[in-house]
Amino acid sequence: VALVPQGGNTGLVAGAVPHDGAVVVDLRALDHLEAVDVAAAQVTVGAGTTLEALQEHVAPHGLSFGVDLGARDSATVGGMVATNAGGLHVVRYGSMRSQVLGLEAVLGTGEVVAANLGGLVKDNTGYDLAGLICGSEGTLGIVTRVRLRLVPTPEERLVLLLGLPSVADAVDVLARVRARPTLHSVELMRAPDLALVEAHLDRPFPLQPLPPCVLLVELAGADPSPDLERLVTELGLPDERTAVAEGDPAAAGMWRWREAHPEAAAALGLVHKADVTLPAGGLAPFVGSVEAAVEASAPGATTLVYGHLADGNLHVNVVGPDADDDRPLDAVLELVLGHGGSVSAEHGIGRAKRAWLLRQRGEAAVAAMRDLKSALDPDGVLNPGVLLP
Ligand code: MLT
Ligand code: ZN
Repeated sequence: VALVPQGGNTGLVAGAVPHDGAVVVDLRALDHLEAVDVAAAQVTVGAGTTLEALQEHVAPHGLSFGVDLGARDSATVGGMVATNAGGLHVVRYGSMRSQVLGLEAVLGTGEVVAANLGGLVKDNTGYDLAGLICGSEGTLGIVTRVRLRLVPTPEERLVLLLGLPSVADAVDVLARVRARPTLHSVELMRAPDLALVEAHLDRPFPLQPLPPCVLLVELAGADPSPDLERLVTELGLPDERTAVAEGDPAAAGMWRWREAHPEAAAALGLVHKADVTLPAGGLAPFVGSVEAAVEASAPGATTLVYGHLADGNLHVNVVGPDADDDRPLDAVLELVLGHGGSVSAEHGIGRAKRAWLLRQRGEAAVAAMRDLKSALDPDGVLNPGVLLP
């Protein structure tokens, strides 16, 4: 019987959608939180723990989890491991794979594998099974427990909005801020999409008139103010092109503008999601041509572009075409490959992008993935139809 592991069901590539009589394995009941190991800055939690429950569990110890994302109240740790989720702070802490020290998983054979659940930082004893299962989208094993690295909670955080003339200017700002030790996030937003978010939230954006391009820069640490002042002075932007929020509630208010982008797209209708990475030099040319590429394949469609600029990770959302119309997604992914990017940055392959895996990774790499799959799941019961073409 085919098994489809499911956590918070917040995935965006149909990787947890059952087909053809498959059985859903709902992992949300595995939500046990073990005591925080403060000396090691680590914790072990059940796969069904939500990101928010994990954050609340470790916060009293002055510790945080390095991955954060908008779906925090329902996304589960197991699903985040399975998809190697990225989110808002990859530039500072890396994606999910960088936080996972060890895990327990049930393979397709029914065998239970425990890989470094003790959280040893150095353990060079053979293949990195935890790293392999991370990002395997439930095709090699079902994750049941995870040992996670934690980070010190920054004493202070500042969120800065910068209104800029173009994406090319935003990439220049990125080059200036990248080396700052307090850098925590750099997110991209654009005027046409912000206008949709304004309508969705029913309030005006803090910078008016809407700048063509907006960067949300978060700085965090013992004292991020000098970095902020230096950046603002260096850029020499007029006052109406910058806004600063200090402290948690104000910072969360600024973040709401970025986090409401997917909601604003969903309010327009069915969304075709393209989560892609571009090399730094390809970001501005890609954003400059993606709308025309979508328009050519699906005239009249609405295209939103936003994302985690520091990681080269853009989210292209297309609204208008029917659910089974693959042309807009194909047009976007073709453009991505033409610019030397990746067809999946942080959401995974799932069912939605299976056909693109060969183009992205090549025959030999996909053949090696198939060999791994048949070794760990010889009967092919784990999430068939996901990831591998
Ligand atoms: C985001 O960064 O907002 C998420 O990856 C979700 C999305 O693009 O819909
Ligand atoms: Zn994202």
